[in-house]
Amino acid sequence: MSLVLGNLQLPVAVALAPMASVTNAAYRQLCREQAESGTTTRPAGLFTCEMITATALAFKAPKTLERMVADPGDPIFSVQLYATDPTMVARAVAVACGERGVNHIDLNFGCPVPKVTRRGGGGVLPWKSNLFERIVDQAVKAAGPYGVPVTIKTRIGIDQQHQTMLDAGRIAEQCGVAAVCLHARTVEQAYSGQADWAAIRALVDALTIPVIGNGDIWEADDALRMMKQTGCAGVSVGRGALGRQWLFRDLAARLTGQAMAPYLPTLAEVAGMIHRHATLLINMFGDQAHAMADLRKHMSWYLKGFRVGGDLRGRLALISSLVELDDLLAQLDGDESYPSAALAAPRGRQGAARSHVKMPERWLESRTYTGPALADDGDVSGG
Ligand SMILES: Cc1cc2nc3c(=O)[nH]c(=O)nc-3n(C[C@H](O)[C@H](O)[C@H](O)COP(=O)(O)O)c2cc1C
Repeated sequence: MSLVLGNLQLPVAVALAPMASVTNAAYRQLCREQAESGTTTRPAGLFTCEMITATALAFKAPKTLERMVADPGDPIFSVQLYATDPTMVARAVAVACGERGVNHIDLNFGCPVPKVTRRGGGGVLPWKSNLFERIVDQAVKAAGPYGVPVTIKTRIGIDQQHQTMLDAGRIAEQCGVAAVCLHARTVEQAYSGQADWAAIRALVDALTIPVIGNGDIWEADDALRMMKQTGCAGVSVGRGALGRQWLFRDLAARLTGQAMAPYLPTLAEVAGMIHRHATLLINMFGDQAHAMADLRKHMSWYLKGFRVGGDLRGRLALISSLVELDDLLAQLDGDESYPSAALAAPRGRQGAARSHVKMPERWLESRTYTGPALADDGDVSGG
């Protein structure tokens, strides 16, 4: 079943969830290529760029433009914006669509990172429904002339007592967004516990536009299960694909009706993927130092569950050049098969629930925002 986002038709109803510092052009290309190897249907999914701050994009900050790079082989350039100010989001959307060839905009209303929520951004912003509405409305209006669909990504709410997903979903629908993606946790939960797929069902029931379900898809069968249990129109997958871009091959195959066992790469294939990841990053950054620094964080995800000794593992996590990387990869036992214990198991961020969600003073007292424009500047990451 296709996922339709405005004028975009996605015959494979799967999205790579935006992940700050992860879903850059190189990583997205690797995921897309895997998805394309699992199905002949095109496009084989939606692969969203890491989050971009609206004000920085509105002013075309060079560092921001450098991060907002398209995967050259992807027919859809999908970008997530983090915005707290209606004027800035409109300007940022105009730059993205008018000057940078962006085909899909997602708005981040799910970030649980304290330095974001403390200022009223991310996952706590939908609580102020008037501000939320103005941001979404301005983004949709700015994207309209370019025919670019806008989606929003949000959470269940701030905590169980302060839920926002239904109001936010309805407001977004009225503003003309193409779909709502729900990470089925509260901000308070961050990444802890289990995603509450029943919340996805409730949102599906409340809206007429497509709902994209997100949270705790570790295998392709989980995606099918989520769609069946919740009625969601598509799925979004993040941590499950960390160090395991092959998951997109399984997802594309299963979501286009093929009965297929998970693809289990040998350690030699994993090493090949790491090498390719390195070369794509070098092309993207234009220098090895940046590329290797980016790649280092992926190493433990790639090697999860494999019998690689501590010394070699440690050295791989500190690589500083392609020559060094290739030398170390050559020392791996390429014949080792994929560790079954690493299947259907959480990977990436989990952590504990927040004991206290940081918010501006008296944020919860009213659902209406009457203060000055909120700043979205600073180094924000995570959702
Ligand atoms: C390292 C990391 C960075 C993330 N950054 C963002 C982000 O920038 N924007 C966003 O909407 N969500 C972000 N997320 C949340 C994911 O998009 C996703 O909602 C979450 O991980 C739950 O899905 P999953 O269980 O498939 O991982 C991030 C998650 C991780 C692990």
